[in-house]
Amino acid sequence: MNTAEGPLVIVGAGLAGLRVAEAARAAGFANRILLVSDEPHAPYDRPPLSKAVLLAEGHEREIALAPGDSLAESQIELHTGRAVTAIDRTAHRVILAGGEALSYGTLVLATGSRVRTLPSLPPGAPGVHYLRSLDDALALRRDLAAASRVAIVGGGIIGLEIAAASSSGRQVTVIEPQPRVMARATAPAVSDYFERRHREAGVTFLFGATIADAARNEAGWTLRLSQGPDLIADIVVVGVGVLPNTELAAAAGLEVAPGGIVVDAHGRTGDPHIFAAGEVALHVNTRHGRHERQETWAHAAAHGAHVGRSLLAPDEGYAETASYWTDQYDINLQAWGTPIGETDIVRGDPAGGKFLVFHIVGGAIAGVSAVNAVRDLRTAKKLLGHPPPPDLANPAVPLKAPG
Ligand code: FAD
Ligand code: APR
Repeated sequence: MNTAEGPLVIVGAGLAGLRVAEAARAAGFANRILLVSDEPHAPYDRPPLSKAVLLAEGHEREIALAPGDSLAESQIELHTGRAVTAIDRTAHRVILAGGEALSYGTLVLATGSRVRTLPSLPPGAPGVHYLRSLDDALALRRDLAAASRVAIVGGGIIGLEIAAASSSGRQVTVIEPQPRVMARATAPAVSDYFERRHREAGVTFLFGATIADAARNEAGWTLRLSQGPDLIADIVVVGVGVLPNTELAAAAGLEVAPGGIVVDAHGRTGDPHIFAAGEVALHVNTRHGRHERQETWAHAAAHGAHVGRSLLAPDEGYAETASYWTDQYDINLQAWGTPIGETDIVRGDPAGGKFLVFHIVGGAIAGVSAVNAVRDLRTAKKLLGHPPPPDLANPAVPLKAPG
């Protein structure tokens, strides 16, 4: 197979799709590259949408991922507002909404994820918000300006970032079924710290609760909870996780698991002409030796670039260490490697607002979370794979990379 024959068509112009295009071009792909997006915008960065874009008007103009003429200079053809509705694997074409077809030599699916929705709070209902796209963020910012009571359903990363961006001058309540915040993404010691800082900012948490029913009248939304009194809110923001956009691949007969489009360590599906990249890909990480899906910016960027390069010259396989960050108030969390251990070792006093948490799996350090401690992270990362040194919890004993 020669993947350089015929055009490269990439479905999805998010971070991963863009990086596929850029990396393939940089690696010498000489044919046409078509980047097809169902969104009306040129590629933009999502992390600011739940942070700076909510806090201040104008920030949305600073989030372009390919500013100026960079796409044109790389001869990457961007088609916005064009949803791909089907893949014809026999004819090597994708079909766009409206019926037009695009031929491909190589096809990359970089369709990302969409928000999981709750039937009692349908997207588009007045005062109900989900957050994935730039348009979602602008609609939320408009509605927040007039809201004084905000209910946030889901105390995960998105819910908490929105709570931080909206708590000033508003009554914010977070409804979360788990007993702690960001339970999917971080260790209890980190959750406890974030919860405390949110409470100091006036945020209320209702743990162990879900929405039993929701109704709207002129006074706003009334949320009936699985336990406790009803909650009244002007707007409701739902952040209960995401689902990978695998439908195109499944309809085309490609292997799809509940976790994503199944690909190997080079992003290849079972069809030698079709790849998947970024958040939609249930990919092999050779460092971990298993299939996994990652919902992080760093993964979308690194996997997209890896798949772009692999189209021309497959290397030893994708082996990036997982990492993510979140920013809430003045707190920056950087997580590297496994973010939750069988046991966790806290280094430093969380009350001081700066600490590390080492995550221990099978007697070795499998990950580290740094709260306002990005500088210590550099040395801390080098301890991954090693047993924890005896004084690890004591910040008075300097961190040393293993000799
Ligand atoms: P996506 O960004 O989802 O892009 C996929 C694109 O494909 C979308 O534009 C979609 O509309 C398009 N598409 C889908 N189907 C079709 C189709 N059939 N035809 C055409 N186009 C299609 N990560 C962190 O590590 N730290 C953070 O602080 C952080 N903050 C975040 C804040 C928000 C609000 C969000 C939403 C995400 C955040 N993330 C963060 C996660 C990170 O942004 C994502 O992991 C990353 O954007 C995934 O990139 P992707 O290109 O794989 O998918
Ligand atoms: N009602 C209330 N909360 C719920 C419900 C429900 N019915 N179902 C799930 N939850 C909670 C989960 O317990 C979890 O704490 O919603 C939270 C979802 O958190 P995440 O899985 O972290 O997802 P989310 O915060 O929506 O972020 C989605 O955006 O920033 C990216 O990388 C991030 O991939 C993540 C994505």
